[in-house]
Amino acid sequence: MSNNAPIGVFDSGIGGLTVVKELIELMPGEEYIYFGDTARMPYGPRPAEQILEFMHQILQFFAEKQVKMAVVACNTMTALGIDMARQHYPFPLVGVNAGVDLALSVSPGKNFGVIATQATIASGKHAKVALEKDKEVSVYSQACPKLVPLIENEQIEGSQIESAVAEYLLPMKQAGVESIILGCTHYPFVSSVIEKIVGRDIVLVNPARETAMDAYRILQEQNCLSTKGQGKVRLCFSADVEQAKKMAGYMLDTRQVDFELVNLQK
Ligand code: DGL
Repeated sequence: MSNNAPIGVFDSGIGGLTVVKELIELMPGEEYIYFGDTARMPYGPRPAEQILEFMHQILQFFAEKQVKMAVVACNTMTALGIDMARQHYPFPLVGVNAGVDLALSVSPGKNFGVIATQATIASGKHAKVALEKDKEVSVYSQACPKLVPLIENEQIEGSQIESAVAEYLLPMKQAGVESIILGCTHYPFVSSVIEKIVGRDIVLVNPARETAMDAYRILQEQNCLSTKGQGKVRLCFSADVEQAKKMAGYMLDTRQVDFELVNLQK
């Protein structure tokens, strides 16, 4: 693994940019290539085999780019495919941190919620990780299928997103959760809407920072951090690059960023 090879980061769409933001903040000297599969998002409602097939296509793309690491900035692909993918690729794979330690640290009554895609909730991953850490924990899991398409279409404020958030989150608030894990990388785009609906007494847990820290730790352990002072960022999408560029502007300073249309289905 060469120090100055790029880091690949990917998601079904723009959601993984919430992780890219943290990666750049933590490791500004790295070169990043991002792939967002905007042509085929959302992944959450798709069958597991199809999600795995798409994940392999993306990892093949990164293998061709000779990345030194791939960050799976998607909870859905992390939950369904990371263990299997690790056996097939020569570079380390970092998945989205489950956020359970963080949630437990801000939930003294051990009562927290998780919102995510249908596939992630069906995998039961967060509840499993939580119960392995503490048998007394109580996890309220909720799939939120309306959120990703709204966010991708820039509906990040206003009545439509507010009513979808209320529909999914008010029952969880009534159940008394102390914190909520944003278990889909798209959701930090609407954290202020979520906060408005559930109130500030419930802590929102965004695992993006932890995920970036996990990546940093592995590169450091393997002596593979970049030796350059300033890195670069290229964001690739499989459709709607102009729309993706607009959304990227909510998360990143895009002035020095390159954008590219990439079609994986050759
Ligand atoms: N952002 C993704 C996640 O964290 C998936 C969104 C989707 O395509 O359904 O799960």
